[in-house]
Amino acid sequence: MDFKRLLVTAALPYANGPVHIGHLAGCYLPADIYVRYQRAQKRDIKFVCGSDEHGVPITIRAMKEGITPQQVVDKYNALIKESFEQMGISFDIYSRTSNKIHHETSQAFFKKLYDDGLFEERESEQYFDEEKQVFLADRYIVGTCPVCSNPNAYGDQCERCGSSLSPEQLINPHSALSNAVPVKKKTKHWYFPLNKYEQWLSEWIVEGKKDEWKANVYGQCKSWLDSGLQPRAMTRDSSWGVPVPLPDAQGKVLYVWFDAPIGYISATKELTNQWSDYWQQEDTKLVHFIGKDNIVFHCIIFPAMLKAHGGYVLPDNVPANEFLNIEGEKVSTSRNWAVWVHDYIKDFPDQQDVLRYVLCSNAPETKDNDFTWKDFQERTNSELVSIFGNFVNRAFVLMHKLCGGRVPKLHTDVMDEADHALIQAIQNTKTLVESDIENYKFRDGLFEVIDLARKGNKYMQDKEPWIVAKSLTENPDNQKLIDNCLHLCLQLTANLAILINPFLPFTARKMCGMMKVVDRMLEWENAGKMNLLNVGYPLKAPELLFRKIEDEEIKTQVEKLHANMVKPNTAATETASTEVKVEHTDLKPEISIDDFAKIDLRAGVILSAEKVEKADKLLKLEIDLGFEKRTVLSGIAQHFSPEEIVGKQVTVVANLAPRKMRGIESKGMILMAQNAEGKLIFVSPLEQATAGSEVK
Ligand code: 2FM
Ligand code: ZN
Repeated sequence: MDFKRLLVTAALPYANGPVHIGHLAGCYLPADIYVRYQRAQKRDIKFVCGSDEHGVPITIRAMKEGITPQQVVDKYNALIKESFEQMGISFDIYSRTSNKIHHETSQAFFKKLYDDGLFEERESEQYFDEEKQVFLADRYIVGTCPVCSNPNAYGDQCERCGSSLSPEQLINPHSALSNAVPVKKKTKHWYFPLNKYEQWLSEWIVEGKKDEWKANVYGQCKSWLDSGLQPRAMTRDSSWGVPVPLPDAQGKVLYVWFDAPIGYISATKELTNQWSDYWQQEDTKLVHFIGKDNIVFHCIIFPAMLKAHGGYVLPDNVPANEFLNIEGEKVSTSRNWAVWVHDYIKDFPDQQDVLRYVLCSNAPETKDNDFTWKDFQERTNSELVSIFGNFVNRAFVLMHKLCGGRVPKLHTDVMDEADHALIQAIQNTKTLVESDIENYKFRDGLFEVIDLARKGNKYMQDKEPWIVAKSLTENPDNQKLIDNCLHLCLQLTANLAILINPFLPFTARKMCGMMKVVDRMLEWENAGKMNLLNVGYPLKAPELLFRKIEDEEIKTQVEKLHANMVKPNTAATETASTEVKVEHTDLKPEISIDDFAKIDLRAGVILSAEKVEKADKLLKLEIDLGFEKRTVLSGIAQHFSPEEIVGKQVTVVANLAPRKMRGIESKGMILMAQNAEGKLIFVSPLEQATAGSEVK
């Protein structure tokens, strides 16, 4: 260990909605396990977090709910804070970026970079919504992703394919606020020259962090660096955010991704006068826990900002997790496809550790994982209840029954191999869990603890003290065997409390209560000791640590998830502040540009339409292609009446080989889109194109 203190941060959640279990699994639970373990190791550690209260997500939510941004952040900050507290996420501080100290800290940071001449001031044309009179950056603007054709990509990112975008790259851009097609307008901003830090970042990450950082994190950084870094605007035109601290910056605020990570510094300042030790002393180990969508900001942009400012430590590690899907589908806040933490707590009061257990044992540490309620039930019932809970309960019940309710003596003269093996297993588990947690492998660490409980069950089963008890009248000395078994099982129980504490803190405390020991016993240095409970010490009656989850409860949750889901057509009409899932069939095999060039697509206008006799599905269309008129048969009769489509502009495959149907020759085909409900939509240009125009 070559550091003196630890500073652990967990991503500041946007205060624009409640937190769901994907947030917990991705970031907050691993961070909390890590911190609880380090605290048990008595290390000097601070754990900071808070609400991210600026940026477009907040203003869009305010518009949706018809309230002010301030009301939005007040409401969700309180809800998020409470959810974290109830789940035992043990921040030393949960702050807010709307606090004065944060405004001052982020403005001072900006000013220092400005005074050092680091920013490039640039005037450029940006999209502007004339109806709402706002510039459309980031998530204010939506359009089709040029990479994957997702029609709801944002101006900063496509959530379907993960591409980082700029508003200019969007196809058919439109305002997320009014749906209006934007115009271009001049505006001035301050750009941080990320390109100038490319070399340094590359050395720091590629040469320094390759073997330390998780493969998913390193991989994303490497691909950013490989594609070259560009200067990035660090200001926005908005009335909501931290005002840019310059005289000529009316109506400008700091870009939310400039101010938010500085929120970690402000929160530490708010927490302790010694904040600068944690941020400015080289022997601090800084660890950022985040979800995978935040990697570039924490591994590239924020470190470059810290480096440019100077005097700050850089992150030692950024253990980002992947995403947790729900019942096989991506979490979608717009479709309400999520398990909200505050709902879980309402439905399963006092079952926080059960959720912590399931989320940690199924954590998306290396790839996206799936949460299902069935799996929640199975893991709880067959692991927590049947292995861990069962062992502790049996040890207590048997001690009360066979040892008079007191910790029995260990008779070393009759110890056998199984006894020694159990002691060894306890000590090995301590070492393994330590290494797993230090290396951010929380699932493995948790499995080791459960495995130790499993070994305890096996040991007890093999020793059968309840059978040995039947031989006592004949052979009173056999009490020694019973004593040894239960002595070791009780010392194992005390060890399990210490080892499980970072993962399941509520359970560990409950166990301390049953053993009548103070919480200090949970300090990590006590793990592996075999004298945690004094001989002769009376223990309490057992309490059940976990209860079984019934089929009925699972059924209710699955039904609730489906019942609360916003149906796709409703979600699609929301302003596009959140993603909309589009059902899609598999893509056809790739074609070359030359293959595509063979298709001659033309804009045409339907001049007339009529039903075809004895053909339910066909309409006979007369189409004007500008240079000629064509007869095209189209299978759309069940979707449109002839009258409603006359005059419509369509896209025609004009060089398709003619084909006879019902005695009529069809020369070409019109393009139609089909949505998830099977509705057909004409593929026509947004604006009227002259008939015959090539579609390319
Ligand atoms: O993705 C998010 O929810 C962001 N609010 C995370 C910010 S993390 C940090 F930089 F503040
Ligand atoms: Zn995309």
